[in-house]
Amino acid sequence: MEAEEGSCCRCCCSFIFTLGLTALFMWLNLKPSNPVYSIENFDVFALNKTANNSIYYKNNHTIRYDFKLNNKENKDKGVYYDALNLTFYYFDALNLSLANKTLLGNDTITPFYQGHGKNTHRIRTIDARGVKWENATATTSFFRVELNTTVRFKIVFWKTKRRHRFGLFADLHVDEQGILIKRKKKGVKFRSGARNSKCCNFHFLGILGILTFILLW
Ligand SMILES: *[C@@H]1O[C@H](CO)[C@@H](O)[C@H](O)[C@H]1NC(C)=O
Ligand SMILES: *[C@@H]1O[C@H](CO)[C@@H](O)[C@H](O)[C@H]1NC(C)=O
Ligand SMILES: *[C@@H]1O[C@H](CO)[C@@H](O)[C@H](O)[C@H]1NC(C)=O
Ligand SMILES: *[C@@H]1O[C@H](CO)[C@@H](O)[C@H](O)[C@H]1NC(C)=O
Repeated sequence: MEAEEGSCCRCCCSFIFTLGLTALFMWLNLKPSNPVYSIENFDVFALNKTANNSIYYKNNHTIRYDFKLNNKENKDKGVYYDALNLTFYYFDALNLSLANKTLLGNDTITPFYQGHGKNTHRIRTIDARGVKWENATATTSFFRVELNTTVRFKIVFWKTKRRHRFGLFADLHVDEQGILIKRKKKGVKFRSGARNSKCCNFHFLGILGILTFILLW
């Protein structure tokens, strides 16, 4: 009798153990990586000093940008982007106060779905008002783009309920042709302003797995 009870308990324990381990590995495998956002090109026509460009120079207030959304990190999770709100600012370096920024404009990219392992570009323009372009030069100014959006993830067939919020920014410098200055030909990645939103229910699952693991080891 005793032996039977013992084996039953062991059986039960190993079942819970396996469950915990499965939860742990599911968490490690399914934890979504955030997509990577970057600006690949940024053309400020009003700052293009090149000789045969006199028609555009200082008079064309259009800024063209190439916004890249990269979901390559996620091997098996898709991303549902809600509206992506981009806000563009101009800073005059002559005026060192960072509070002294000028709003150039807003742009909203419509919601879409991006499959796993994919990347895509949105090439768009804004009409930048509010800057005194006649006295602006590439060397004394830089631009800031702020990105505000929320996303959900698709994991196998399951769409996460919780929306993950991103508040990011990128600082952009252009050369005397009004073209984005890149390091090693790479675009400028958006950085975190503050909040870092990770999926807490996945952390919960992972902690549960680890706890089960420790308790039963
Ligand atoms: C600036 O002007 C030159 C000559 O017209 C042109 O080759 C270059 O692409 C222009 N820069 C931008 C950002 O359009
Ligand atoms: C710097 O910014 C402040 C506040 O906007 C403004 O009053 C001041 O004239 C600016 N100075 C220069 C040199 O542009
Ligand atoms: C541009 O600079 C010149 C010379 O410093 C100045 O007289 C003019 O008022 C400035 N224009 C604007 C719009 O700030
Ligand atoms: C983006 O802009 C839309 C429309 O203005 C707004 O409804 C939405 O809340 C904004 N999203 C974020 C994350 O700020």
